[in-house]
Amino acid sequence: MRQVHQEIASWLKPLGLDVRVDAAGNLRGLYPALSPGAPRLLMGSHLDTVPDAGAFDGILGVVLAVALLEGLAPAKLPFAIEVVGFSEEEGVRFGIPFIGSRALVGTLDEALLGCKDSSGVSVHKAIEEFGLNPDEIPRAAMGDDVLAFLEFHIEQGPVLEHLGRPLGVVEAIAGQTRMDVVFTGRANHAGTTPMNLRHDAMAGAAEWIAAVETLAVGTQGLVATVGSVETLPGATNVVAREARLTLDVRHATDPIRAQAVKDLMSQAEQIARRRTLSFHARVRMEQRAVAMDSSLTADIERAIKKTGALPHRMVSGAGHDAMILAEKVPTGMVFLRTPGGISHDPAESVSAEDVAKAIECGLGLLRQLAASPSLHTRTHRA
Ligand code: HGY
Ligand code: MN
Ligand code: MN
Repeated sequence: MRQVHQEIASWLKPLGLDVRVDAAGNLRGLYPALSPGAPRLLMGSHLDTVPDAGAFDGILGVVLAVALLEGLAPAKLPFAIEVVGFSEEEGVRFGIPFIGSRALVGTLDEALLGCKDSSGVSVHKAIEEFGLNPDEIPRAAMGDDVLAFLEFHIEQGPVLEHLGRPLGVVEAIAGQTRMDVVFTGRANHAGTTPMNLRHDAMAGAAEWIAAVETLAVGTQGLVATVGSVETLPGATNVVAREARLTLDVRHATDPIRAQAVKDLMSQAEQIARRRTLSFHARVRMEQRAVAMDSSLTADIERAIKKTGALPHRMVSGAGHDAMILAEKVPTGMVFLRTPGGISHDPAESVSAEDVAKAIECGLGLLRQLAASPSLHTRTHRA
């Protein structure tokens, strides 16, 4: 992350930005406005990613923001532009996403700072080990001079490619529930324990994983994923004593997601009871579905049309820092087509033509926003 900060800072400084890293590890660069004291537009995305990832999720949104400033410089606008590279959006290390963006909206609280990674290092400690001071986190919060947040991001799905469109405009971001789930049975000898006398945590988990998929396939607009399974003791010739799973459930409508989680919990209980296993579940993160700002979305749609492309309004199944910032400021997202719909994998890609289209759209959007008197009067909601 330090190297990424240095690299991006080396792109931003020649454009006249002063670049810093805030106490939550977010990279922050400010491109000044025509006149001092003007409000600011935030633009950016996350710099972290997932294991064995592609090369565009998150980082493309920061690179695009830099490219827009390169296209704009040395001109100045009636508002400043702050480029933000969020430190921790995916939630891979601590199991809780959006740590960086929560600092900007003032919700990076003690509970979150106390979350520990698999080796017992807390967020608080990790920030100190990076050479930052967690006591400074309140100063990372955005001020009340923020007009809006704009995030460019790859779609990470097949819709735009299927429609043959380069850019999409996000209307809402699906809510998500992330949980840790544990089935506990009794370890035993794989050779001597008859099938009807087993309390096999792995078999119970497998039955439930199939039930997770069945429920999601049968519920319109729901996605549910068991992304990781860890079993103990994890030996070929031992009936598993424990199966630790993660669950990720998402839907654009919160009550449907909540009902799905409830159904999956009761199905797990039934499976555990029938197999004389015990079952425990813990919610790691609950994030409600978030609508993007309707006027910013209309602005984005107009800017896409001006490039000659046909815009497509869509819901994002992936979570984004935009859903955190939307709690405080008008927020909008532009999606870029994802070839093959593949993401969170080295095969993730984006076409140079679509990136050029996104830059054209972004520059047009900045001009539109600079010309729209309503924007200057908008500051962030209390
Ligand atoms: O998992 C997600 O929703 C995204 O990659 N942050
Ligand atoms: Mn991601
Ligand atoms: Mn992302």
